[in-house]
Amino acid sequence: MDKFVIRGGLPLNGQVEISGSKNGSLPILFGSLLAPGPLLLEGVPTGLRDINTTLEILRQFGAEVEKRDHQVAIEVPTQGPVKAPYDLVKKMRASISSFGPLLARRGEAVVSLPGGCNIGDRPIDLHIQGMEALGAKIRHENGYIIANGPLKGGSVYLSGPMGPTVLGTQNVMMAAAGADGVSVIEGAACEPEVVSTADFLRTLGVKIEGDGSPTIRIEGVGQDGFASLGGVTFTIPPDRIETGTYILAGAAAGGRVEVRNCRPKDNLALLSILKNIGVPLEIGEDSVTVTGVDQVTPCDVATLAYPGFPTDLQGPLMALLCKTDGVSLITEKIFPDRFMHLSELRRFGAKVRKEGSTGIIEGGAPLHGAEVMASDLRASACLVIAGLMASGTTQVRRIYHLQRGYESMEVKLRGLGADVERVEDRQIESETVQG
Ligand code: EPU
Repeated sequence: MDKFVIRGGLPLNGQVEISGSKNGSLPILFGSLLAPGPLLLEGVPTGLRDINTTLEILRQFGAEVEKRDHQVAIEVPTQGPVKAPYDLVKKMRASISSFGPLLARRGEAVVSLPGGCNIGDRPIDLHIQGMEALGAKIRHENGYIIANGPLKGGSVYLSGPMGPTVLGTQNVMMAAAGADGVSVIEGAACEPEVVSTADFLRTLGVKIEGDGSPTIRIEGVGQDGFASLGGVTFTIPPDRIETGTYILAGAAAGGRVEVRNCRPKDNLALLSILKNIGVPLEIGEDSVTVTGVDQVTPCDVATLAYPGFPTDLQGPLMALLCKTDGVSLITEKIFPDRFMHLSELRRFGAKVRKEGSTGIIEGGAPLHGAEVMASDLRASACLVIAGLMASGTTQVRRIYHLQRGYESMEVKLRGLGADVERVEDRQIESETVQG
């Protein structure tokens, strides 16, 4: 197991290139199950663990997968296994998005219920309701959902008590693409990753309207509608959460960072918050330049479905808010328990606490390097930013979480002048003992 060793307090300066979107790639990779291919996906962040888990799952479904530098070529036979086993689904919940494409193309899907998760309860009831609305017959057996087609167009409502579901919308869109007839999804998620999935399906020849709004209309091509489809290329857009993370890191560490190859319009909520708290930004067509600040003004924000402020940037923003001259509030309205980073932030000396689903940050306390434990992907990013801000040395353990979603983070940060090393945990432990 590796960890990051960060010698903090150095400003970040220079340019950083954003990779293709993780959450954009995952459903689209599973969407490749809809057609025989060959299909070529470009701009895939092939260095990420979640991408490699996905390729492993696709191979289990009988796909031939070839990974090159930021490219994946896929061919998928019509017949083949339809089971997504627990061992893989528990590693990565996005594997639930194999459900729709498998059901549409192979008429059957056997998908494990995902089980526990570090960021809180994540049911998949809306995915199931969506498939049922398209005519799927579903039963539960020994922790698995067994679904059978054929699918036909239907009317689907996809919002729950916490709002719309992102993967649920993508999953049902992909199922509807291979269903017979027209489907309409109401209460759909509007995230840019949903639009990318729609763009991908359009590349496969599917007629879709309304993606990016709560009502999406899909003209299904039927179970054999993609039977002769091949030679398709699709490019994954840049990662808006990686973009936001580097913007926040730049603001927090000081210096001047140009975040390149991004889509600023996908991050308007974050950019608006940063402007309001006094972070200087220059926004270009496909870049954002941020100038670090010694202090930001406090704020009161909530995570919300897109175009609201994303839950995936809640932790990284919390690190920056330790630099205020007052009290800030961040309320989680997507995953009310997603605060595992909070007690780790305290180890840096931060004055943070939680009341209900609100994180309360009393700014102004200086951060000192600490030994901390990453609990999930975005919590890890929060701790890395705190480590960059802190004086002295920080060790962030269990950074395998980071490798799920940030390509070569230590290399990118070093390119900006940070002193970050990725080392094997045991080696450093014994050095500490010797010291
Ligand atoms: N929900 C239900 N029923 C469902 C599905 C979701 O009640 O059937 C609830 C969830 O419990 C949550 C809310 O609806 O309270 C939203 O969850 P959503 O389904 O939108 O989340 P997701 O699609 O499983 C994706 C991202 C997450 C990101 C969320 C919210 C991927 C692979 N994952 O998850 O990303 O936090 O949307 O934007 O796209 C990450 O990258 O670190 C990550 C966790």
